[in-house]
Amino acid sequence: MRPEHLQTRIFLDGGNPDETREIIGILGFLDGQTTNPTLISKNPGIRDHLQKGGKFSASELLGYYRDVVKKISAMIPGGSISVEVYGDASSPADQMLSQGREMFGWIPNAHIKFPTVAEGLKAASRAIGEHMRVNMTLCFSQSQAAAVYAATKGAGKGDVFVSPFIGRLDDRGESGMDLIANTLRMYEKGDGHVEVLTASVRSIDHFLYALKIGSPIITSPFDILKEWAAGGMALPGADLTYEPKGLRPIPFEEIDLSGKWQDYPIEHELTSKGMEKFSQDWNSLIR
Ligand code: E4P
Repeated sequence: MRPEHLQTRIFLDGGNPDETREIIGILGFLDGQTTNPTLISKNPGIRDHLQKGGKFSASELLGYYRDVVKKISAMIPGGSISVEVYGDASSPADQMLSQGREMFGWIPNAHIKFPTVAEGLKAASRAIGEHMRVNMTLCFSQSQAAAVYAATKGAGKGDVFVSPFIGRLDDRGESGMDLIANTLRMYEKGDGHVEVLTASVRSIDHFLYALKIGSPIITSPFDILKEWAAGGMALPGADLTYEPKGLRPIPFEEIDLSGKWQDYPIEHELTSKGMEKFSQDWNSLIR
């Protein structure tokens, strides 16, 4: 059962519908799910096929992704399912947008994930104009989050998520949790059209502290949700602190949200690396 005072929506981060079913059974609720090319490449059906020496044509693989997403959507009909377009360093906005349109038609409750790079922001801005819902992924800086805000102005409530990645910043010695806190603080001065979806959650500490600081959405791997359930789905008390364990703090920046998206610095090494890894994992499945 959903804890009575839980405000945050809880999503599963994964590409296996069996885990979706299991976690709904354990928690008694689930508000949505995020997928990405790497997570889909770990789907047991895909692993099986590869182990038997099989690969997929590009259209078979897309069909597989669609079927996975449809199964998940049917289990969380009132929630949101994030579906990610293929994007590498040379993918133009047009191409990502047309994939996004197709994916948006797969299920009634999709948010389309575009990478937070110039072409992804262009695609998202046009997608919003076409009344699609988007989730801007691979966000690693407050100025990228400001660009997301600017690129999606005019969107309806609930139509735009931004996914700042905690764990990958932690991996390189920066406290990713600060990016969540800073983005939430920056958006306080906005109109509320972008919701922070805390991503790249690697520990129960990440999960609980993101709850404490009021992230509207958290996506979390299966094992961490199970750990939360094992602890009785306790909500963090006012005394919960976060121990960054030697990670460098990320300072808050005063950023005015009234600019055009092109005005904000949006390049980030981890965004490029993340796109490269997602596209490699996807391409490794194709014959
Ligand atoms: C979010 O939507 C992403 O799928 C995810 O949280 C990435 O997490 P990772 O950094 O553990 O791969």
